[in-house]
Amino acid sequence: MGLWLSSWLVLLWFASSVSPSWAVPANTSSFFSFKDNFDIMWAEDHFKTSPDGQLWYLYLDKKTGCGFQTRQRYRFGWYSMKLKLVGGDSAGVVTAYYMCSDLGAGPDRDELDFEFLGNRTGQPYTMQTNVYKSGVGGREMRHMLWFDPTEDFHSYSILWNSHHIVFFVDRVPIRVYRNTDKPNNFFPNEKPMYMFSSIWNADDWATRGGLEKTDWKNAPFVSSYKDFHADGCQWEDPYPACVSTTAEHWWDQYEAWSLTDGQHEDFSWVGRNLVTYDYCKDYERYPTLPKECNI
Ligand SMILES: *[C@@H]1O[C@H](CO)[C@@H](O)[C@H](O)[C@H]1NC(C)=O
Ligand SMILES: *[C@@H]1O[C@H](CO)[C@@H](O)[C@H](O)[C@H]1NC(C)=O
Repeated sequence: MGLWLSSWLVLLWFASSVSPSWAVPANTSSFFSFKDNFDIMWAEDHFKTSPDGQLWYLYLDKKTGCGFQTRQRYRFGWYSMKLKLVGGDSAGVVTAYYMCSDLGAGPDRDELDFEFLGNRTGQPYTMQTNVYKSGVGGREMRHMLWFDPTEDFHSYSILWNSHHIVFFVDRVPIRVYRNTDKPNNFFPNEKPMYMFSSIWNADDWATRGGLEKTDWKNAPFVSSYKDFHADGCQWEDPYPACVSTTAEHWWDQYEAWSLTDGQHEDFSWVGRNLVTYDYCKDYERYPTLPKECNI
């Protein structure tokens, strides 16, 4: 709680320092409808939408969770969605939101993950991100958030271009993966990625390392979604024309190849205040750090 509270205080300063940036498409008239762009992966009866189709809900109960995926696979681009996480006692519950080149957990898959690890009422969520390249993960980072992610919708986004992959929370870059290091870089022509989200029970590991179990009295657990936006190249789009740095492909133009000064400041602030685990600093686990940690 202490950390959460101080994060809140810092936010007062922080919110005013978030500078306008390239990574925010102003055009919001292009949110994607569920029925045209997504499929339910499993447990259709644990998925609901609002009457107008704008809000989507995933349910977890003792029987099962639920998940959905885009029909389309994407190459370079900007992919964003707003999520409101399970409130109250959500210990043991994980909401995942990720891009992956594979429909299953294939041994060669590329994957970019956001995972939100629930907690007991009043205890802060942990946000874990991970990067899998050709089936190899182990690149976890963990962050605290500077807001309560169960109270309202916040946007979680991924920018993927020829220079880096950036994870954003509400326009704030929280993690940067340099995409220039062979063989661990993500090419657009090799493995395009679907976007997924799911909710599931992970009380064997998620909350305080598995000590806190899911309390099924509180089921169903519900995570909510809206405003999916994909500003990027689809798999069918002609390659390499689609990923060229022409004007409409802002996500892989010069300005998007590195963070702006304002984004740098925000990113450092997050690094100083909210990171609770970084595999690149885990020398016990990696006596020789993975190569990308040194870029
Ligand atoms: C916003 O996006 C939609 C759909 O992609 C497009 O038809 C429209 O012209 C865009 N509007 C502006 C102001 O760019
Ligand atoms: C849950 O809350 C406890 C106590 O504040 C904290 O140690 C833990 O990191 C939190 N998150 C998870 C996912 O366990």
